Amino acid sequence: MDSSKLNLKLISHATKYVSEILDIPEAVCSGHDLQHSIRVYRNAIMIAESEHITDPTVSITRIGLSALLHDVDDHKLFNTYNNAHARQFLRTHRLSKTDTELIINIIKSISFSRNHGLPANTIEGKIVQDADRLDAIGAIGIARCFAYGGANGRTIADSIHHFYDKLLLLKDMMNTESGKTLAEERHKYMKDFIQQCISEEDTWNAVQRFTT
Ligand code: NI
Repeated sequence: MDSSKLNLKLISHATKYVSEILDIPEAVCSGHDLQHSIRVYRNAIMIAESEHITDPTVSITRIGLSALLHDVDDHKLFNTYNNAHARQFLRTHRLSKTDTELIINIIKSISFSRNHGLPANTIEGKIVQDADRLDAIGAIGIARCFAYGGANGRTIADSIHHFYDKLLLLKDMMNTESGKTLAEERHKYMKDFIQQCISEEDTWNAVQRFTT
């Protein structure tokens, strides 16, 4: 992989396109906003560059575009068919049929709910999947979990359950070495946060016992 081949012009067009598509309240208030897409993009580029990939067919531009476009057809936000939003961008910017299908395959393979948590089937997909998972854990992951919960009428307790249902499992599902290393620290931060929640709840119970 040659990271100097990153097509920055295309990346900047994609960023603008994503900012327009995701400019709806359901996305902005639920942690699936433009900033999430940009963080996933940055994570993906960072992972791709630290993985020492020798395969010349791996494309840094496909990785970057998939990361930016990964939520524009998210079924929690849109009712598009066959990734129509992502395809529209790729068509407008005249990407080849091969690049288009590879990018759509990456986007489809990284969805946790659609892919049932299975690993992506290409190195490009594995990188973007790790990049998206990293943004679901750690301090940002905690913030996004509660934002999504609030936007979807969930209680704080429901959101905390989501840590056990999904977020605490992600560390062991990372595909790449650099992804695993980055996930370790964020996982620990999340566990400390939950521990703190539990101890504050306990304090409350202790005070109640004391005063009643
Ligand atoms: Ni995402």
